[in-house]
Amino acid sequence: MKVIVTNSFDQTCEIAAEMIGDVIHRKPDARLGLATGSTAQGVYPYLVKANRAGTLDFSRVSTINLDEYVGLAPDHPQSYRRFMDENLFDHINIDRKNTIVAKGTGDIEANVRAFRKALLERPIDVQLLGIGVDGHVGFNEPGKVLYDGAHVEELDESTIDANARFFENRDEVPTRAISMGMGDILRAKKLLLLATGENKADALKGLLLNEELDVQNPATLVKTHPDATVIIDRTLADKVGYKYQPIKR
Ligand code: GLP
Repeated sequence: MKVIVTNSFDQTCEIAAEMIGDVIHRKPDARLGLATGSTAQGVYPYLVKANRAGTLDFSRVSTINLDEYVGLAPDHPQSYRRFMDENLFDHINIDRKNTIVAKGTGDIEANVRAFRKALLERPIDVQLLGIGVDGHVGFNEPGKVLYDGAHVEELDESTIDANARFFENRDEVPTRAISMGMGDILRAKKLLLLATGENKADALKGLLLNEELDVQNPATLVKTHPDATVIIDRTLADKVGYKYQPIKR
């Protein structure tokens, strides 16, 4: 696992966008695994900027997102489909037919089956990941077991607390989500996990400071991946107690 420690969250996002851009340059019909949340949100403006500058073409790119809340329709302001449209897809030359976000309303079992089928269609070339305060990736929450494939996850109270900032009040936060499984994530050819903020330090310790794989901290499984890069800023690295070489750029 490679770890890059940046000078700022902004630099973290810029480097992640460059790495995603490199994948697309090498493979113009790449499949991107995408993430939501405020961390991933910092990356998308750089992709939009490169697309507008004419240096990054999404016309043959396809995407599949990690997760979607159960109970929110695609046009709900806090649905992850809407997040992706507003933060990325509306601003780049991607064919909307080539973007997949699991559907969180209607027949949920059928939606999970459709999402599983979509995941099987082709491998993910690069998967962007944030990390929850409890170590979740996608919405794979700590528990007795983790799951290989796409499934419905009951969200932890700490996740509901953390995501309540996006809703009018905590009661509106969905309690379940459809998520890629840990296996789906680890099958991506390349992983990019980004984090910022002191509240992520405990989860990061499990990933960066020891060799343990811990079902109570799902992000620790990222260390098993043959091509994973973790990008954090130095404020977070210092909080974690991770020793690093300052970045040269
Ligand atoms: C959400 C998403 C995750 C995301 C995480 C961190 O619950 N399902 O994919 O990585 O929480 O979000 P943020 O970047 O806003 O801290």
